[in-house]
Amino acid sequence: MASLRMCRQLSRSLTSASASASSLFSRGRNASLSRGIGKYSTAAAVENPISPPVSVNYNQLLIDGKFVNAASERTFPTLDPRTGDAIAHVAEGDAEDINRAVAAARKAFDEGPWPKMTAYERQKILLRFADLLEKHNDELAALETWDNGKPYEQAAKIEVPMMIRLIRYYAGWADKIHGLTVPADGQYHVQTLHEPIGVVGQIIPWNFPLLMFSWKVAPALACGNTIILKTAEQTPLSAILASKLLHEAGLPPGVLNVVSGFGPTAGAALASHMDVDKLAFTGSTNTGKVVLQLAAKSNLKPVTLELGGKSPFIVCEDADIDKAVELAHFALFFNQGQCCCAGSRTFVHERVYDEFVEKAKARALKRTVGDPFKGGIEQGPQIDMEQFEKIMGYIRSGVESGATLETGGERFGNKGYYIKPTVFSNVKDDMLIAKDEIFGPVQTILKFKDLDEVIRRANASHYGLGAGVVTQDLDTANTLTRALRVGTVWINCFDVFDAAIPFGGYKMSGQGREKGIYCLSNYLQVKAVVTPLKNPAWL
Ligand code: NAI
Ligand code: MG
Repeated sequence: MASLRMCRQLSRSLTSASASASSLFSRGRNASLSRGIGKYSTAAAVENPISPPVSVNYNQLLIDGKFVNAASERTFPTLDPRTGDAIAHVAEGDAEDINRAVAAARKAFDEGPWPKMTAYERQKILLRFADLLEKHNDELAALETWDNGKPYEQAAKIEVPMMIRLIRYYAGWADKIHGLTVPADGQYHVQTLHEPIGVVGQIIPWNFPLLMFSWKVAPALACGNTIILKTAEQTPLSAILASKLLHEAGLPPGVLNVVSGFGPTAGAALASHMDVDKLAFTGSTNTGKVVLQLAAKSNLKPVTLELGGKSPFIVCEDADIDKAVELAHFALFFNQGQCCCAGSRTFVHERVYDEFVEKAKARALKRTVGDPFKGGIEQGPQIDMEQFEKIMGYIRSGVESGATLETGGERFGNKGYYIKPTVFSNVKDDMLIAKDEIFGPVQTILKFKDLDEVIRRANASHYGLGAGVVTQDLDTANTLTRALRVGTVWINCFDVFDAAIPFGGYKMSGQGREKGIYCLSNYLQVKAVVTPLKNPAWL
């Protein structure tokens, strides 16, 4: 993600290397693991887990610049997806902790130094933060891998550097945000002030914990807002360390408060809080609908949403098949298939379909699955038991509905949440596996005859997040680019995520854009100021 260069680096390093969670369910995940997982057949043994090269030093809530326990004194285990064992116990924030965090953020905004500080000072803090992240790159990456299960090489070489790039990008914006002089009625001097929106609530998911942290926190801080961030209950660890470093860089107390905890408790309290001025959410479409309602029913806070997807990946007749297979494989399997924009409907032209399917199967069979701390591993475990069960359910449904299971379809190993890379061919549009977001390593390959047909079928989805197109024909690329109703079209590439490129969804994939210049408007209010002119004749 990042520039083309980074995308290539990412593909290279990967190829060469060879119902929302209720708090009850999540607390019981260890138990669920031993109860449920036995029924899945196993393929290869998973070696004993490698000891992570990091320790968990911070596990509390961060409120008003201090690490504190939850008001209830409760904690919850965060689990290692390689085994299902607890890594650490983390403070479990709920409504009372959200209240404390909102009060701190309110004070830091209304009285505190943050919005009153010069933009240059804010910029310097963000730049110092980026330097500290660079120093702690490997430690952050190791925590991310341990908590999430993603390959360490991916976290250390791609994701943490991308996070750093994004922090520096928004640090750069901090002192370039300003309003306009408006040529209105000649009797008045009219200007606009671009002001921070105030106290911002942010709720992030578990698939890219550090990147989602940075996409949310960096633009909000650059614009002068204060924040309460709720991490995902599956992956609370890396954001706590990152926030500690941000304070070390000079962030005043109360400007960023981090509350670990569950959705229906801490998350809902944040979304419905009367003193929160804006909400930014990334996660499932269903939870997106819930938080939008909570925001509407409380104080009508504006909400930006980055939600699910079922992105088409279109392989045209003229495509270089080997390149298309590799790109389609990357588009779907990257990050264990746990990407909102995963290219999860692989449409292939009928003339090249059979060759594509054969090669896609061969590529999936070559994918290296195993301990994400081991060098050369492309795929680690899924995030948790709930996702594992959900994905296995979709695989069963694919088989039952008559799709051809080319490879995979079963658990990998005998512990943790690993799934073998799975490929279905002969997939029809009305099958569940072609309609729902699977969020796992399951490629579904569909056949098409011509451009008009594939445009109609690609757009026949409630989602509209991304699309991939592989073609050598400029006219075909231009036609698809304009016809597809999605927030991002990647032509002959995929998952290019530079900090400056806007990202967001059409239709039920979301509202608003993150990254780039477009994100700034999420975190700013525009105030018009009108002053009578003493001597309008001078105009
Ligand atoms: P989720 O949408 O329920 O969780 C995302 C965040 O929302 C977490 O921080 C969670 O604690 C919070 N949350 C949950 N319920 C809430 C509520 N009532 N009020 C406020 N906050 C709440 O996603 P989940 O259950 O982890 O995964 C379910 C599915 O969502 C996945 O299978 C996948 O399809 C999709 N998903 C999409 C993501 C994306 O990047 N767009 C990321 C994660 C999941
Ligand atoms: Mg975990």
